[in-house]
Amino acid sequence: MSGDTNIYMSMKRTARLALLAAALCAALAVAVAWPRAQMIAASSPAAWAATPDKVARGAYLARAGDCMACHTARGGAAYAGGRVLDTPYGRLVAPNITPDRATGIGAWSADDFWNALHNGIAPGGRLLYPAFPYPNYTKVTRADSDALFAYLRSLNAVRQANTPHALDFPYRLQPALAAWRLLYFTPGEYVPRPAPAPASARADAWNRGAYLVEGLGHCGACHSARNAMGASSAVLDGGLLATSGWYAPALTAGGEAGPGEWRGADLVQLLRTGVAPGHAVSGPMAEVIEQSLQYLSEPDLAAMALYLASLPAPPGRHAAPEPAPAPPDALMQHGARLYGQHCADCHGKDGRGVDEVYPPLAGNRMVTTPEPVNAIRIVLNGGFPPATAGNPRPYGMPPYSPILNDDDVAAVISYVRASWGNAARAITPSEVNRYRAVPLD
Ligand code: HEC
Ligand code: HEC
Ligand code: HEC
Repeated sequence: MSGDTNIYMSMKRTARLALLAAALCAALAVAVAWPRAQMIAASSPAAWAATPDKVARGAYLARAGDCMACHTARGGAAYAGGRVLDTPYGRLVAPNITPDRATGIGAWSADDFWNALHNGIAPGGRLLYPAFPYPNYTKVTRADSDALFAYLRSLNAVRQANTPHALDFPYRLQPALAAWRLLYFTPGEYVPRPAPAPASARADAWNRGAYLVEGLGHCGACHSARNAMGASSAVLDGGLLATSGWYAPALTAGGEAGPGEWRGADLVQLLRTGVAPGHAVSGPMAEVIEQSLQYLSEPDLAAMALYLASLPAPPGRHAAPEPAPAPPDALMQHGARLYGQHCADCHGKDGRGVDEVYPPLAGNRMVTTPEPVNAIRIVLNGGFPPATAGNPRPYGMPPYSPILNDDDVAAVISYVRASWGNAARAITPSEVNRYRAVPLD
């Protein structure tokens, strides 16, 4: 679960290095030969022509893959790169993928592009970092890769030199990356498989959903736990975003976001608009919906919902977490007073909210996740669901960090987590304090 990232963060630097050194030795020998072998395998001649149809399909797929979000700096030219991605291993800067020959990918062939998307290898054999979610994009078909390439080639060329990454030692070394890839990356296109009951009657839709969720949608890049080396599990069992500190809840059955227990129509509405009865997304998920999911077709969103609803609980995960002991009376009273003063106007005295305007807090599993970080962040910083065609003027929540101290925030969230049938553990002022200074995204 989310603990895994914490384990990584708390591992002694020396332990991390030792772990990596071991992997490094194993990989040095193959570091050179292996990417070359993959490149040869990938460069079968492809009949490639940028028809208008292909460009339009590529534009849609680029939305599905949320390519622009990472490859555009705030206020910068679309796809010209420059957005900084902080990772536990240092800082990466997304490159320019406009068709500029000198600074973008204008000199690339469709094979080069496929090799990047499918194998994570840039021209010349340079291995790419998996912050570019090619461990997911590897599932994309060659036809879709070509359409994406056709679309990127149709963009205005922007001359903007790439900013070099600033990764820590030893992560900046290509052999370290080669080692990582040997251990954790297997290239492979999505292969349709039998859908589990009850989705089996709609196997095509289920497979389309799986293709989008596991591939371009790269949901697992956030919603899966990562191990000590930053590799995701294949199941969407919930993950803590290592540097921004948001928690992306489990999408599997049993507990957290658990789409299996939603009405299918509600899940589709959430993915399209950012709000649904009982739900409102915030933070990184709001960005995913604003920039990517709201543009997907209704059948594609329905297919994704069908697939998500079929995900079984990971082994050992119980349907409902054990109720935690009730917080002390004094804390509950302090929390109740603050709630009445600051929160009840919108979320209601009974915590039931107002449908699709103010999310309910009673029975809201996003509020009672074992990992309380999202509730802390939203109370400190406030937030808006995304502005989408389906919900163009979302209602927001004001930030409370200027007016509530750590004790107050801990009390009001503990109260919310333990009222109206909610039964999650109390949180501490130091948990609140940790997120005062963390940047929003
Ligand atoms: C989560 C952020 C993120 C998303 C989403 C993302 N990328 Fe990237 N991409 C990166 C980063 C970071 C790199 C740099 C990797 C490196 O240099 O090792 C990169 C590298 C690339 C490269 C290699 C460019 C070069 O000059 O080496 C291509 C091509 C690319 N991305 C295309 C895409 C496409 C197409 C999509 C959407 C389907 C996409 N990216 C989505 C972060 C992202
Ligand atoms: C950049 C990280 C990121 C990516 C990529 C991402 N998510 Fe999320 N998601 C989050 C975070 C963080 C939350 C918790 C915050 C919230 O609920 O708004 C979340 C929440 C959710 C929820 C629960 C919302 C609720 O209120 O109950 C669903 C459902 C969901 N995501 C589905 C998806 C799907 C499907 C994809 C892939 C198409 C995806 N997410 C991709 C970060 C991400
Ligand atoms: C002006 C109306 C308003 C007030 C006052 C308000 N909220 Fe909110 N709250 C919202 C809205 C709107 C959202 C959805 C925000 C989003 O999706 O980014 C929200 C979201 C939340 C969430 C996340 C729910 C979820 O599904 O992820 C929590 C927890 C929360 N509020 C707690 C509080 C607490 C505690 C207070 C008082 C200290 C408070 N709110 C005051 C409007 C309000």
